[in-house]
Amino acid sequence: MKIFLDTAHIEHIRTAAECGCVDGVTTNPTLISREEGQFEDIVREICEIVQGPVSAEVVSTDADGMVEEAKKLADIHECVVVKIPMLLEGVKALHRLKELGIKTNCTLVFSANQALLAAKAGATFVSPFIGRLDDAGHVGMDLVREVLAIYENYGFETEVIVASVRHPLHVVEAGVSGAHITTMPYAVFEKMFKHPFTDVGLERFLADWEKVKGRS
Ligand code: E4P
Repeated sequence: MKIFLDTAHIEHIRTAAECGCVDGVTTNPTLISREEGQFEDIVREICEIVQGPVSAEVVSTDADGMVEEAKKLADIHECVVVKIPMLLEGVKALHRLKELGIKTNCTLVFSANQALLAAKAGATFVSPFIGRLDDAGHVGMDLVREVLAIYENYGFETEVIVASVRHPLHVVEAGVSGAHITTMPYAVFEKMFKHPFTDVGLERFLADWEKVKGRS
């Protein structure tokens, strides 16, 4: 499973990239608003660090506006993937961007039918938001399983990004489901390293090594 970071925080992206575990990044207007600097500069810097797909979102809500924004975003760097919201106008834009050879990530997906339409229109990626579904009392991962089954049944090539991830168990469930990608906040990425037995085990090894060092 590919791991994407769901953040625009450069230092976090750089640290995770140094571990060799990050295949891409997703941003959205909220994540960009938390950082200093110009949108284009932030996106370019992220692309240079990860050298993988980096989603940058349009803010127009009509197809013409989305396509114009998408062309400008795609010009920033070859790694840019244009994030398009799931709307009828958004699906029109997905279709036109596919013809233009611009990669897309259909965002704000909350139903299997929305994911089906995105794939038919030619989206490169689709992002079901599982945490927000969980927050509303649904089982977000059920949506991921439905989308994967539909794509598998009909041979769609659109890759599924499990998005709106809240905790490490979401990552495990995404992996078990066979989802192509999980995008996660840096805090979740950090938690994936942790296990109390690892800490206790290391402490004991180091303490025992002190005894060995004391030998003459
Ligand atoms: C996906 O690409 C989105 O940026 C993101 O996962 C949204 O998650 P949230 O529900 O934590 O805002």
